[in-house]
Amino acid sequence: MAILVTGGAGYIGSHTCVELQNAGYDVVVLDNLVNSSEKSLDRVEAITGKKVKFYKGDICDRQILNEVFAKESIDSVIHFAGLKAVGESVQKPWEYYENNIAGTLTLVDVMRQNGCKNIIFSSSATVYGNPAQIPITEECPKGQCTNPYGWTKSMLEQILSDIYKADNEWNVVLLRYFNPIGAHKSGTMGENPNGIPNNLMPYITQVAVGKLPELGVFGDDYDTPDGTGVRDYIHVVDLADGHVKALKKIEEKAGLKIYNLGTGVGYSVLDIVKNFEAATGVKIPYQIKPRRAGDIATCYSDATKAKEELGWTAKYGIKEMCEDSWRWQKNNPNGYED
Ligand code: NAD
Ligand code: UFG
Repeated sequence: MAILVTGGAGYIGSHTCVELQNAGYDVVVLDNLVNSSEKSLDRVEAITGKKVKFYKGDICDRQILNEVFAKESIDSVIHFAGLKAVGESVQKPWEYYENNIAGTLTLVDVMRQNGCKNIIFSSSATVYGNPAQIPITEECPKGQCTNPYGWTKSMLEQILSDIYKADNEWNVVLLRYFNPIGAHKSGTMGENPNGIPNNLMPYITQVAVGKLPELGVFGDDYDTPDGTGVRDYIHVVDLADGHVKALKKIEEKAGLKIYNLGTGVGYSVLDIVKNFEAATGVKIPYQIKPRRAGDIATCYSDATKAKEELGWTAKYGIKEMCEDSWRWQKNNPNGYED
């Protein structure tokens, strides 16, 4: 039996492939490489010593999905494939709804036709909108998303929940990620954004390596201890481990479950700059800029439910997250192009 990992060549997917193989699972990846490189899978193989079976293809393409299910014995699907650039989703809403929603509907249809009814879905803390309470528990109501990307996550949560409600043979685990950063300890795998990064940590590492002159800090007048935005940063290897734990839950018959995957600790933008400087010895010049549209002041998790029900907690602290992000960037200034 194998696990199908859609989007498995991407940042979180490739790290999850390592943890799955280390836990003894056979892994099949389907990815159209729209935002990733197949080289990430060579690195997975180098780390684990095990082959990753790779299909280059799109989740919107029923034919390739049929081929995968015909050739492989797929037990469960971990579904990472999706477009994820918040700003781009505002410019290209149709493309985001088509890729993320139509793609998932096609995937789920092919799954059920093949009797595979186990899915773990990459959701996001973005579904809470401007959260009604901090720290955020899973009971916190979903909110208004500020962009089409966020809506695809919120809508797909609803769609997958309705599919479970109509057919209880399904096991649906919705994992709401907080802010993944960090990289594999080996320094051979990490985040590989196209163009200028939108997210904080890849921006900082590109300043550190000299590709960008300085960091813009988006607002210092939020209602937070130092005025800059507070987030729950989580090491990508911890996040990957959360998927292995979710898979174990599915093996025990999960039903429909929702879990926050975060550390429960909030750091401001300036905390991250200071921690990065302390962990790496590299100075990060920055300038305060206006607030970024759609940003909220504070977002961090209560991850008690994942601890109690999955036996999962984040192991890595901010120092390791900064060190590991930096090791990857320093060794691979051009990502997988090096
Ligand atoms: P990523 O872009 O590195 O990985 C996504 C992968 O999906 C890429 O390899 C891409 O080529 C592939 N893909 C996209 N559309 C596809 C399609 N139609 N068919 C096949 N493959 C396709 O992103 P990531 O950071 O690894 O994120 C993985 C998942 O987690 C995404 O669904 C994302 O929305 C979600 N998520 C990410 C974050 C974050 O901050 N990184 C936070 C919350 C949720
Ligand atoms: N920030 C800066 N400068 C930058 C980039 C970011 O100051 O150049 C600040 C932001 O204003 C925010 C914090 O750093 O306060 C984190 O920003 P990110 O862009 O790294 O992350 P977000 O919290 O905005 O969003 C990310 C993903 C979303 C996902 C969410 C889940 O981009 O897709 O985490 O919590 F939904």
